[in-house]
Amino acid sequence: MIKNGHHANEEAGSTEPGGSACSPAKRKRVVRVWCDGCYDMVHYGHSNQLRQAKAMADHLIVGVHTDEEIAKHKGPPVFTEEERYKIVRSIKWVDEIVEAVPYVTTLATLDEYNCDFCVHGDDITLTAEGKDSYEEVKREGRYRECKRTQGVSTTDLVGRMLLMTKTHHSNLDNPDYQQHTDNFGKSPKGNSPWTGVSQFLQTSQKIIQFASGKEPQPGDTIIYVAGAFDLFHIGHVDFLEMVYKQAERPYIIVGLHFDQEVNRYKGKNYPIMNIHERTLSVLACRYVSEVVIGAPYAVGKDLLDHFKVDLVCHGKTEVFPDKDGSDPYAEPKKREIFRTIDSGNNLTTDDIVQRIIANRLQYEARNQKKEAREVALIDTLKRKEQQDKNEAATHAAQ
Ligand code: CTP
Ligand code: C5P
Repeated sequence: MIKNGHHANEEAGSTEPGGSACSPAKRKRVVRVWCDGCYDMVHYGHSNQLRQAKAMADHLIVGVHTDEEIAKHKGPPVFTEEERYKIVRSIKWVDEIVEAVPYVTTLATLDEYNCDFCVHGDDITLTAEGKDSYEEVKREGRYRECKRTQGVSTTDLVGRMLLMTKTHHSNLDNPDYQQHTDNFGKSPKGNSPWTGVSQFLQTSQKIIQFASGKEPQPGDTIIYVAGAFDLFHIGHVDFLEMVYKQAERPYIIVGLHFDQEVNRYKGKNYPIMNIHERTLSVLACRYVSEVVIGAPYAVGKDLLDHFKVDLVCHGKTEVFPDKDGSDPYAEPKKREIFRTIDSGNNLTTDDIVQRIIANRLQYEARNQKKEAREVALIDTLKRKEQQDKNEAATHAAQ
């Protein structure tokens, strides 16, 4: 059914089922793809994996592991399974999710959900016993790879929170930002290329891939919301879902504040994710149509008129005053287009950071263990490659 072999090709789907080489009958067939994972502290790296998987097929099903299963193979997750199911559902490329799937991906699972193949990033996922969890599906040619997103991982984000650094902020005259350090500030030498961290570089291509590309249509209700949307979490998802329900045909524009602005009103080392990272996280949400990258703090006349905003919403969280002490929503309130939305969820970015700090030692141990296993695997693969080369050379000499 599916050609054997796999490759780390971002848009590999374009040459596979549905491509010009297929018969018209095959072209009509719906191709179903499977992805699975922990999807803990979901970030734009996860979203980008799901985007690439969806580009290879018509229907994307995502299997998410339980807390118990993750604890057994990797260490305890930061988010509960209910939270992780909800955030994966909110990602716009996901058609369906399956709860509580096993850590090891089997042919039986792919067949049960009628999936042609599964897609995973080009890193290796190991079980508690150190075995590749995709061994069976790889052997049977039902495995494809997409590119793992460089420069982001849960490990890195946890490191930023624990170290309280600001070096990740997008700040032109910050020399530290150029340095290539890992999550605990060490040189990356000897680290795993997967869990070991490098810096994320935003490109116009990535924004195009994540953006909806849709202009507002006549009859759409243009709704504007603003904020930090840092460590994009289910509180944000619940809020945006409620905002989406405010109109029959909503067109939601999210105004993201620059890092320095967020730091002014939130303090400490906030935001944990810089403006480039927050842009992708928000664009991956199914309710969002457009993002303003670096929105003015005060929602003023120019902005409202430029986007022809019909409604401005804010959740029940605190509204911090502008630098001069004024209310940033004064103008929409004057125009009577301001609405407070109850997301029914009181999770905050601060809560997530507190959860992680409370479990600091456990997370450090988990991260170190994961990376050590990856480094050990790379060493084994390198040794095997050298051994094969030596054997080939011996053969040639005989
Ligand atoms: N993934 C990715 N890019 C990243 C992080 C994850 O493409 N920067 C992909 C993984 O390759 C996998 C999927 O997202 O196919 C789900 O990953 P998950 O099981 O949640 O765990 P990790 O790969 O360990 O992600 P992290 O290190 O961020 O915890
Ligand atoms: O705090 P932040 O700027 O990220 O919030 C963005 C928007 O999401 C705000 O309108 C905030 O009130 C809303 N929100 C919410 N419920 C939460 C978290 C955020 O309504 N639990």
